[in-house]
Amino acid sequence: PKKVTITTLQNLYTNNEPITVLTAHDYPSGLFVEKTGIEICLVGDSLGMVALGRKSVNQTTIEEMLHHCRAVSRGAKNPFLVGDMPFGSYETSSKDALRNAIRYIKEGNMEAIKLEGGSEMARTIHQITSIGIPVLGHIGLTPQRQSSLGGFRVQGKTAKQAIKLLYDAKALQRAGCFAIVLEAIPGPVATYITEQLQIPTIGIGAGSGTSGQVLVQQDMLGIYDRFVPKFCKQYAKLDQLIIEAIEAYREEVKSRAFPAEEHSYPINDDELKTFLD
Ligand code: KIV
Ligand code: NA
Repeated sequence: PKKVTITTLQNLYTNNEPITVLTAHDYPSGLFVEKTGIEICLVGDSLGMVALGRKSVNQTTIEEMLHHCRAVSRGAKNPFLVGDMPFGSYETSSKDALRNAIRYIKEGNMEAIKLEGGSEMARTIHQITSIGIPVLGHIGLTPQRQSSLGGFRVQGKTAKQAIKLLYDAKALQRAGCFAIVLEAIPGPVATYITEQLQIPTIGIGAGSGTSGQVLVQQDMLGIYDRFVPKFCKQYAKLDQLIIEAIEAYREEVKSRAFPAEEHSYPINDDELKTFLD
């Protein structure tokens, strides 16, 4: 596998080959993305929930994000690396957004950033992309705005909302986004938006008509216990496997079946005898 770049992604898009995106939050999960040939590794602010155990993404800090970005970058070498900007790190001004986006490159070892929002973020996105930092847009269900959206709910179900999504997608394209995440919107709306754009769309709960798909790694592996979104397919139930393994370990320690001979270090008889004497 070769290093994935913006050019690789453009070629996939041109060839109508779906772009695969998966989140990672630490070294091992980054390594899984590396080893499977997934094209984009996203360090999502969902880490606040799935890795740090919070109820919402909104407490995720930029320091936490950068810490996890660095860890992921040590495992995921070939995927294109995108770091998610957390709530509060880009909305206050273009200047704050630029300063923080630069930190993702310099301190987080990321190659691009993602931020949430539509046309209201276009000016900021334009400034970030114009200094050479690729930006992944994100519209539809934007979890950082869950309070004003009334929770984790499907977006774009009315014609009016769908028109607004299309308008936002076009604004993000004009602002220079290299791709746009479409989260939790009806499939036909996402397909139409995809057809109207000249950049890839990455769907999550947006049907099969987008240019690529993204899932949260812990969700699709079945290691997040609180909530499985309707749009998430669980490709494994790793929590069960992990719990069984840990239970087996515990029982073998209790019964002294572990450690066995092969897990123990020998000592030669003479040395042992001298020691015991
Ligand atoms: O934080 C995240 O993991 C995300 C993806 C679900 C797109 O934003
Ligand atoms: Na996110």
